[in-house]
Amino acid sequence: MSESAMSESLWRQSRLPFESGSFQPGERTGVLVVGAGLTGLITACLLARAGDQVLVIDALYPGALASGGSTGKLSLLQGARLSDIARHQPEEVVRAYVDANRAGQNWLVTFIRSRAVRFSERPAYSLARSPAAIDRLEHEYILGRAAGLPLQRVRETELAWERGLALRLDAQIHLNPMSLVQALLAECRALGVRVIGDCTATAVSPRPNGYSAQTTRGEVTAERVIAATGTPFLSRGGHFARGDAQRSSLTAYSTPGSAVEGMYLTLDEPRRSVLTTDLVDGEPLLLVGGAAKVVGREQAASESVEAVDDWTAEHFPGATPRSRWWAQDYSTLDDAPYVGPLHPGERGILVATGFAKWGIANAAAAGLALAALVHGEGLSWAHTLYRRRGWPPRNITQMARTNLAVAAESARGVARVLGAHDDSTPSGHAALVELDGVRPVARCTVGGVDHRVSAVCPHLGGIVAWNEAELSWDCPLHGSRFAPDGTRIEGPARGDLTAAPPRDENQQP
Ligand SMILES: Cc1cc2nc3c(=O)[nH]c(=O)nc-3n(C[C@H](O)[C@H](O)[C@H](O)COP(=O)(O)OP(=O)(O)OC[C@H]3O[C@@H](n4cnc5c(N)ncnc54)[C@H](O)[C@@H]3O)c2cc1C
Ligand code: FES
Repeated sequence: MSESAMSESLWRQSRLPFESGSFQPGERTGVLVVGAGLTGLITACLLARAGDQVLVIDALYPGALASGGSTGKLSLLQGARLSDIARHQPEEVVRAYVDANRAGQNWLVTFIRSRAVRFSERPAYSLARSPAAIDRLEHEYILGRAAGLPLQRVRETELAWERGLALRLDAQIHLNPMSLVQALLAECRALGVRVIGDCTATAVSPRPNGYSAQTTRGEVTAERVIAATGTPFLSRGGHFARGDAQRSSLTAYSTPGSAVEGMYLTLDEPRRSVLTTDLVDGEPLLLVGGAAKVVGREQAASESVEAVDDWTAEHFPGATPRSRWWAQDYSTLDDAPYVGPLHPGERGILVATGFAKWGIANAAAAGLALAALVHGEGLSWAHTLYRRRGWPPRNITQMARTNLAVAAESARGVARVLGAHDDSTPSGHAALVELDGVRPVARCTVGGVDHRVSAVCPHLGGIVAWNEAELSWDCPLHGSRFAPDGTRIEGPARGDLTAAPPRDENQQP
């Protein structure tokens, strides 16, 4: 496997080149959608269909992050998501979550059936082995049935070693997510929506008739701004402090054995997502997900990936890795998504976040809810589901725990700098965070090129850590990531790591 195939998603490898629309600094639009992932493109499409003037901007290009890097399951059976939500919320919210996802799935099924989107219909499974996981799955069964999902409890599946309990839901969808992104992009353009790439939004401030957004290409004024950016890029809603950025790997393997028909997710450790796909070039590939971690908080990422390879070799003898990539998504403290105003004082800025690796149906639900909010309409499931996750946060204990973890990471970051230990790893990409005078500096050599940048994350000052698996600087506080030369990749940071001044050679080492 070449290093580039190692890091690019299977779906993006065959993407069509993206041609950005033209951008005039100072232009005015009705709705500015920031982020051209599934949430932003679906929302733009719905608003444009309703006659709104819409402009979409993206820091990278459509589908560049989670949307083009996901597994591609458009499923209403989502591991044990309902029982996770039920730990914090009453049953009416769980039902609203199912209704939201059903509405999102229905919208997408209608869309993909009438466009050139590559998909297949198949059963989805959640699997449990241990008594604790079986209990969760039993609860999931009760909650799902009560919400109208025709779940079945089964004992035997194609993954014969996963003995215990399985839930099955028939007629779910697997799709090529990049093919969906491209169909949405085509739809947006046909409706007159301009989609601009390489344009990062850095600030939004109120104006008499709307908002002024600052971007790296200049100013845009709009009546409404929608942040469909994974985690909201504006800090003043505090959303970054109310959840985690979770990153996991996906690996596509060639296998000599027969294809797996179902789409599987195991609840026990090691947690694995397993399915066979032929949605890229017709050759069946086994797709295995695993090695989940909170962004920037584990150094041994490459070991976890080896563990995924070992697990796959054990259960699918002869499997050979063809591509491997990583993607990240954001969860909220109460495990349910939030779609609505940035905070109660900012009703003209709307956000969508917290899909917790289930953002395909949720992105379409968010699009429907956002379009309804822009038009002052009500959707009953949206009202019940999202109303409860506004500001202030309900789950204060969990919030305290999460922020303690962030504080501990801050302290670890400082210790890392003071220890100035060499983070270099077996691949030979030397990387080090050290003190230069009083400044923490991140230094690495990649492909023979030396880089030296500030180690202080421009979001809220976390000290970045080297991610050996992906050759990036990752912030352990709220999940921002940067290229070796400091260029922002993703997360709530709105700018790059700043360049570090040249080293003072007269200084003591
Ligand atoms: C490993 C993995 C597997 C997954 N598998 C599935 C699955 O099988 N089924 C499922 O339902 N979900 C899955 N998901 C979740 C799903 O991929 C995401 O929830 C969904 O794609 C989120 O879409 P989005 O549009 O909200 O965000 P994104 O796709 O992340 O898009 C956000 C966009 O905003 C842009 N952006 C960010 N900040 C700025 C800024 N300041 N200015 C301008 N642009 C900005 C980014 O460049 C990006 O293009 C998975 C997630 C992961 C990580
Ligand atoms: S992402 Fe918040 S401090 Fe780095």
